[in-house]
Amino acid sequence: MRLDNGNIRLPVAAVITAGAIVAGGLWMAERSASNNLGPEPAAATAEYGRYLLRQTAEYLGPNHENPEMRYSGTHLACASCHLDIGEKPGTLSLLQTSTRYPRDSGRDGGIRDLRDRINGCMQRSMNGQPLPRDSVEMIAMEKYILRLGDQYALMSDARKTPIEPPAFAEPDRKANVDAGRLVYEQRCYVCHGENGEGLQATANPSDGYVFPPLWGPDSFNNGAGMTRVLTAARFIKARMPFGQPDLTDDQAYDVAAFINSNPRPIKADLEKDFPDLTRKPVDSPYPPYADDFPHEQHRLGPFRPIREYYEQLKEAP
Ligand code: HEC
Ligand code: HEC
Repeated sequence: MRLDNGNIRLPVAAVITAGAIVAGGLWMAERSASNNLGPEPAAATAEYGRYLLRQTAEYLGPNHENPEMRYSGTHLACASCHLDIGEKPGTLSLLQTSTRYPRDSGRDGGIRDLRDRINGCMQRSMNGQPLPRDSVEMIAMEKYILRLGDQYALMSDARKTPIEPPAFAEPDRKANVDAGRLVYEQRCYVCHGENGEGLQATANPSDGYVFPPLWGPDSFNNGAGMTRVLTAARFIKARMPFGQPDLTDDQAYDVAAFINSNPRPIKADLEKDFPDLTRKPVDSPYPPYADDFPHEQHRLGPFRPIREYYEQLKEAP
């Protein structure tokens, strides 16, 4: 993959690289401010929960010195996707999460609480193992998310308004993976790398990433929400490129399809998801389905015909 194939693109890449270094610098500043916590597991406090979401690789990662603490299968952080550790309003914010649980989960087929939901991301987004429900780490993460709910309740209406581009509007067509590759080369590659591998913060993988991987062996697995084209496109339109989100709906849609056309870890037992298959999201990229649309259409769209099919099914007597 080449970026410097002319006099025009090179300065653009240089400007983006400068932005990337600023973003990385901010990240490192936040990180070192919290280093005084020390490596010992802390008590089950909201503050410890906040570190767990930011420095997940250090506390729960695959290189943890205690093999029993290697719950995560990647060196991603929860905050790689839940930006600003979920503290600001906007896409994948965790500010209002506490009010949404327990709830009926279509994916699991029953009522699930906040701890189950955290373990959903542990097993999919983090490609790892579920934390014991009564572990210090689980209770700390839950307390942190509950505290965010209290903070949200006290926020002024102005502060509750996300600072994001207009919401993603789904294009009524099949996503174009080749067009997505071009968007990737021009707008993402500079931070996320030639092979989507990201950039580690230091030579020690437990220090996590400055720019997280988007595919490959250390990324989220194929059962994660981010592998759904619409979920990824919504996030990318709202939040990427980092610090400068300005993609069109079409660009966000295509680049989401490109990222998810690359290899990533495989989750076992995905066919057990959605015991009631009519509740499966139209853009779930893995079978089985309760309809006859081709697998590729569930991966790349267009999604409107699939949605209409299920709406008619519901209306039928
Ligand atoms: C690869 C990206 C990614 C990573 C990493 C990730 N998540 Fe998530 N998380 C998501 C997506 C996508 C959703 C679902 C949003 C939706 O349902 O549309 C989600 C949903 C959640 C929810 C439910 C939010 C709500 O309001 O309903 C919680 C809680 C959560 N994640 C916690 C975590 C924790 C804790 C970690 C780290 C152990 C983590 N996540 C890591 C992508 C990620
Ligand atoms: C300036 C650097 C930069 C650019 C350019 C950039 N990103 Fe990111 N991206 C980040 C950072 C930083 C994070 C994680 C934030 C954190 O850890 O606090 C991130 C996180 C993500 C995530 C969620 C985490 C993961 O590992 O999957 C996705 C998806 C993503 N970016 C996609 C994109 C796409 C698509 C583009 C191009 C349209 C893009 N990014 C451009 C810096 C960048």
